[in-house]
Amino acid sequence: MKIENICCIGAGYVGGPTMAIIAQKCPHINVTVVDINEKRIAAWNDEDVNNIPIYEPGLSDIVKEARGRNLFFSTEVDNAIDKADMIFISVNTPTKTYGMGKGMAADLKFIELCARQIARVSTSDKIVVEKSTLPVRTAEALKNILENTGNGVKFQILSNPEFLAEGTAVDDLLTPDRVLIGGDIDSEKGKEAVNALVDVYANWVSKEHILTTNVWSSELSKLTANAFLAQRVSSINAMSELCEKTGADVNEVAKAVGMDSRIGSRFLQSSVGFGGSCFQKDILNLVYIAKSYGLGEVADYWEQVIILNDHQKRRFAEKIVKTLFNTVSGKKIAILGWAFKKDTNDTRESAAIYVADYLMNEQAEIIVYDPKVTEEQIYADLDYLGTRSENENRSLLKVVNTAKDACRDSHAVAVLTEWDEYKKLDWKEIYSNMLKPAFLFDGRRLLERKAMEDIGFEFYAIGN
Ligand code: UDX
Ligand code: ADP
Repeated sequence: MKIENICCIGAGYVGGPTMAIIAQKCPHINVTVVDINEKRIAAWNDEDVNNIPIYEPGLSDIVKEARGRNLFFSTEVDNAIDKADMIFISVNTPTKTYGMGKGMAADLKFIELCARQIARVSTSDKIVVEKSTLPVRTAEALKNILENTGNGVKFQILSNPEFLAEGTAVDDLLTPDRVLIGGDIDSEKGKEAVNALVDVYANWVSKEHILTTNVWSSELSKLTANAFLAQRVSSINAMSELCEKTGADVNEVAKAVGMDSRIGSRFLQSSVGFGGSCFQKDILNLVYIAKSYGLGEVADYWEQVIILNDHQKRRFAEKIVKTLFNTVSGKKIAILGWAFKKDTNDTRESAAIYVADYLMNEQAEIIVYDPKVTEEQIYADLDYLGTRSENENRSLLKVVNTAKDACRDSHAVAVLTEWDEYKKLDWKEIYSNMLKPAFLFDGRRLLERKAMEDIGFEFYAIGN
């Protein structure tokens, strides 16, 4: 089976970059990305490719190359669905904020809506690929809805989990460690569908790097990979607190530990806590699934990764308050970085949101600068937390356009995202414009202790 038309539902952090690369690497396939969010689609179609809604290094050039040739962005969802041989579902699956499984289970309502829409408008057989981060057993839900539509159209459901990390999405997509495709490999039709998707990726990924499994293994592999990665961050973050108490340096510990080839050096960077749309959500899902099978110990084991992460964020905020003589009320504190990591404008679950919220509860005045996150997004994140009114959020926290402006006349600066440009700042000048004693809190181990202390800062770094 040869794929000629692909439709992707959801033009977000996963759908957008993934489809851009497929279009670039497969000029013979027409790729249409649809979304109900008109503003987002308009931004993807903006004449100036620098205005596309997602910031990822290298992405705008790829969009420039393929857009209008075989890559299209549209709000006409029904039309694109019906034309496609293969449909990717890349809609968001946030943690439920209501009802059963509140705060833990993934909310599958957007997925279900997609499935119903596909069932309603399809007039020919299709392969449906679940691409969003989903808990295990989503494929089964999709299958149930699609198979019971009664209009005779046949669907094959595949799971193709996303392993791209934001900030490096283009490289991750171009040279993936592996591509994982789950399908009904025990049936002929299922195998055909799996092979059709293998052929799409084979345009640029070698066959040894494309794994095929059954659907459940594929779905659970995604959760497992993210749980293991998040666990490494929580493990090193747990050590960071012990390092601070004992005079060890967590970076030295991480280096020594990482040189053990059985452990490996990546993902051992201690931080103010992991963020992003996946880690917390996926682990919560894992915990929820384990609990629903009555596996209490398994659930508790993984939940501890989240508990440690919450502790790390709170501990950092508390450190600021304690250091500033136990009160930050009315004090100006600059926050550098709102994104959950560098090279992305995504802020979902970013540690900065929680640190700011904690300090605002202590009545601090917060000034934020992030090179890629908009003021609108920063306020939306705080309003979403719901700790205080929209007016209070806007009066306690301001957003500015440079690091210099953020730090001027402040008592303290907290670095919460590891943006490269923060390393290159004129820290001497920043220091000279701050109130004294001037405090600098490095939540990312971005800055050199000695250099900062020589300038005059009272310096604190995670794990040191
Ligand atoms: C993650 C997975 O890496 C990716 O494979 C999956 O598909 C989606 O979830 P992402 O959330 O984009 O990707 O970013 P990642 O690079 O994994 O970082 C997650 C968080 O952990 C960030 O807040 C990052 O700053 C933090 N982190 C990462 C650390 O604090 N220390 C580290 O050593 C690595
Ligand atoms: P992710 O990081 O998983 O890509 P995003 O929130 O960035 O998540 O993107 C998901 C996109 O899916 C959003 O732009 C949202 O508008 C879109 N979406 C959600 N439900 C539907 C739907 N039923 N039809 C079309 N688009 C949808």
